[in-house]
Amino acid sequence: MDFQLLGNTQSVTQQDQTLIIKTAEATARVSVYSPTIIRVCVTRTPDKEDTSFAVIQQSSGELNYLESDTEVIISTSALLLRISKSPLRFSFYTADGKELSRDDDRFGINWQGDRVINYRKLYPDEKFIGLGEKVGNLNRRGWAYTNWNTDCPDYGVKTDPLYKSFPFFIGIYQGGTYGLFLDNTNKSYFDFGATTDNEMSWFGADNGDINYYFFGEQSVAGIIRDYTWLTGRMEMPALWSLGYQQCRWSYMSAKEVLDIAAKFREKQIPADVMYCDIDYMQDYKIFTWNEQTFANPKALLEKLKEMNFKLVTIVDPGIKIEEGYQQYDEGVEKGYFATYPNGEKFVGEVWPGRCHFPDFFRQDVREWWGKSFSALTEPGVEGFWNDMNEPAAWGQNIPGMVKFGDKFMPEVRNAYGMQMARGTYEGTRALLNNKRPFVLTRAAYAGTQRYSAVWTGDNTATDDHLLLGQRLVNALGVTGMSFVGVDIGGFTGNPTPELMVRWNSLGVYTPMFRNHAMQGTVMREPWEWGEANEQIIKKDIEQRYKLLPYIYSSFYQSCKNGLPVSRTLAIDYTFDEQVYNEAFQNEFLFGDSILVAPVISTRHSAEVYLPEGQWYRLSSDELYNGGEAYTVDAPLDDLPVFVKSGTIIPMQHIVQSTQEQGDGVLELHIWKGNEATSFTYYEDDGETYDYENGAYYLRTISYDPANQTLTISEGEGSYTSRFTQLQVILHGFDGKTVQPSTLTPQQINITL
Ligand code: GLC
Repeated sequence: MDFQLLGNTQSVTQQDQTLIIKTAEATARVSVYSPTIIRVCVTRTPDKEDTSFAVIQQSSGELNYLESDTEVIISTSALLLRISKSPLRFSFYTADGKELSRDDDRFGINWQGDRVINYRKLYPDEKFIGLGEKVGNLNRRGWAYTNWNTDCPDYGVKTDPLYKSFPFFIGIYQGGTYGLFLDNTNKSYFDFGATTDNEMSWFGADNGDINYYFFGEQSVAGIIRDYTWLTGRMEMPALWSLGYQQCRWSYMSAKEVLDIAAKFREKQIPADVMYCDIDYMQDYKIFTWNEQTFANPKALLEKLKEMNFKLVTIVDPGIKIEEGYQQYDEGVEKGYFATYPNGEKFVGEVWPGRCHFPDFFRQDVREWWGKSFSALTEPGVEGFWNDMNEPAAWGQNIPGMVKFGDKFMPEVRNAYGMQMARGTYEGTRALLNNKRPFVLTRAAYAGTQRYSAVWTGDNTATDDHLLLGQRLVNALGVTGMSFVGVDIGGFTGNPTPELMVRWNSLGVYTPMFRNHAMQGTVMREPWEWGEANEQIIKKDIEQRYKLLPYIYSSFYQSCKNGLPVSRTLAIDYTFDEQVYNEAFQNEFLFGDSILVAPVISTRHSAEVYLPEGQWYRLSSDELYNGGEAYTVDAPLDDLPVFVKSGTIIPMQHIVQSTQEQGDGVLELHIWKGNEATSFTYYEDDGETYDYENGAYYLRTISYDPANQTLTISEGEGSYTSRFTQLQVILHGFDGKTVQPSTLTPQQINITL
């Protein structure tokens, strides 16, 4: 196999706002997307069309550069890119000259056959976070990963790859930060100094280009903002999808679905969502309902609606080969399925038996797919669960010569699930007529946040998975995916009652809160764990519902600036070494100011690290000084959860479903602090796109300890809050209370 280095610069030219540098081997194109984002694309096929599934922005920045005999220097107000000409190497600096990241001087970018790799200098204290759904530590230093979307039932705490590919990481060292997104959907590799004698980190792919976006913002939050500017942000989720979700493979009949839903109401355990896994279909044919067990979907949906429940139904990509089945007949007639190079349709086996697989990379196929959802939306379904879209097929080894249009499977595999989710989102959004669909996908690629929520696939009912799941959620948050869940309780195996309770407590603070389990496992509903445990589970789910005004406002941030709802402490406390300590690495902020410390089920105390500042335990208002680790009580009914001093958290009274009107009281909880703080409160109707036309309610709530006031700003938006009463609840203020007042759009000043 030949080994080819990038070589020496032969020419430097400018075309529009792109700098083009040629060597004998390759062409490098450099363009500026914003002062903090520079793209470098090194290719051996410069005539190929420039497309991306992830990126939704165009290069817009003006190209400013100086050329000498030895180098080219591109500068923006924030960044310097020094390009040495011979050999061609790229080095990034802040505008004031601090080195951020550079090619390894010897090897830089090179090829072995089609495989292209970029070797980079590894700094002694450099840390790495990101890459989304990857096992291992928060700090990925010393680990290596592959991106190749894989159906991996029973995955272990060291399995790689899993279901999703987010080739984006953030490097942190010596007070500096940078981000790097390799936009390449081929099988790709990231190595953070696993076996290079601490000299080099490297990344690359089996094929395609070293096509990366370099982010130079000097904060992790700023890099996430830039990355989600480039690849898009989520839109406001349907409020109901933030409630408690109950799933199982499978509730076997409409009656069973209704019975479970009714039991939630009877037991007064709040819940919003029931699921239908694959058995609601006739012979696993997508877009059908089982004629015996789900004979009258409309009646099912109506009854669920009467109980204030929504239904989510699963869809898989595999279309059963069966003449007379509409999606099969149409797909064959129109040529919508993946093929072998000779034009024969590829066959793979999944739940329905022998299947063909739609080519979701084609717009017409996505439109056709999207329209097929009428079979689900007409009876009233508003949530669509996209599974098996790595794509999965038994044997898990789809031949590399399978083609989607003119692309071989390996080139685009990592984006297949994303394109399925895109077709699902676009189709159901159109069908639902101004209502927000809820889309959930298992496989994903960078940018999927624009279309769908994700969950972390088939985890296992063990404590290790509880902790790993939290790291997966936190790492997905770094890579732009805010709306994330894990199967609470573990998909495979049976949790002990203690594990079920613990995991449910953590679910309260997981962006998507879904209990799900595999067929053959014990039933998982809250009442299956004994009376005492049921009461804890109920109390925790109630806590989720109380927090919904805070959670909804936190999702608003994800929509506005890309910051995730579940945040590794590395986002806010990037340079605090303890954050990366394996003992504390699972901790996270839920929204701006709630800190959660996951605890395994066999422990009833926990070592918790609290970063700088002062913290109150949520359950007791006990005050702690930050910058220290503590051993705290963690009985099964009290997960260690803390709030920052000065925090403002809006809460509501318990409702059984987000569809309930509630009593109109908004509680504003304030924990005494020394510094001025504020909270951006956001509300809208929770179900339509009217917020895009101004129908929302946005207010800034400010707490000023110096003047002892609480202020609600004049705000934006034409929506009238569903809350009519405001109750201020003080924590740490020595018994002071504040009278209820009326929440109106006018400015409110309350003296504390
Ligand atoms: C896959 C999914 C799982 C689902 C099952 C049956 O294993 O990951 O969530 O329940 O298929 O559809």
